[in-house]
Amino acid sequence: MPATTRRSQPDACTLLEADHRKVKKMFKDYEELAQSKARGAAQKKRELAQEICLELTVHTQIEEEIFYPAVREAIKDTDLLDEAEVEHASAKDLIAQIQDAQEVDDMFDAKVTVLGEYVDHHVKEERNELFPKARAARKLDLVAMREQLEARKEELMAEMSGVAA
Ligand SMILES: [Fe+2]
Ligand SMILES: [Fe+2]
Repeated sequence: MPATTRRSQPDACTLLEADHRKVKKMFKDYEELAQSKARGAAQKKRELAQEICLELTVHTQIEEEIFYPAVREAIKDTDLLDEAEVEHASAKDLIAQIQDAQEVDDMFDAKVTVLGEYVDHHVKEERNELFPKARAARKLDLVAMREQLEARKEELMAEMSGVAA
């Protein structure tokens, strides 16, 4: 039963899905903060927005460095990967705008909201189209790739949070 054994083991997609869920929760928290009139909300929003940007920067980078190139070699439908990369580019553009923003005003909220919508759309395509194709590709060892992604993620997190501090 190699198929069942394979599926029950956490693989690269499991790790990426966990990132997706984490960031979705952060966007939800942001939405709640944006509605609150409490003192200090602006500061909290800025901090949370920075965390979201860091998470997404690391996540997109490990996908671009490790996951996407391997999947590109293993599946026929590379349009999906081209689109994914274009979507990453749009997200990065908004991330840069959020990181450079001077004021935490309505436009700041709007940028975070739109980034959340982009990510939502992108994540759905990964979950429903890209990941099933990757998992069906026999050539890919996604279980081994999970460790590779995890190691690179830790490395980048340490590097980038160091720079931000
Ligand atoms: Fe992703
Ligand atoms: Fe992605």
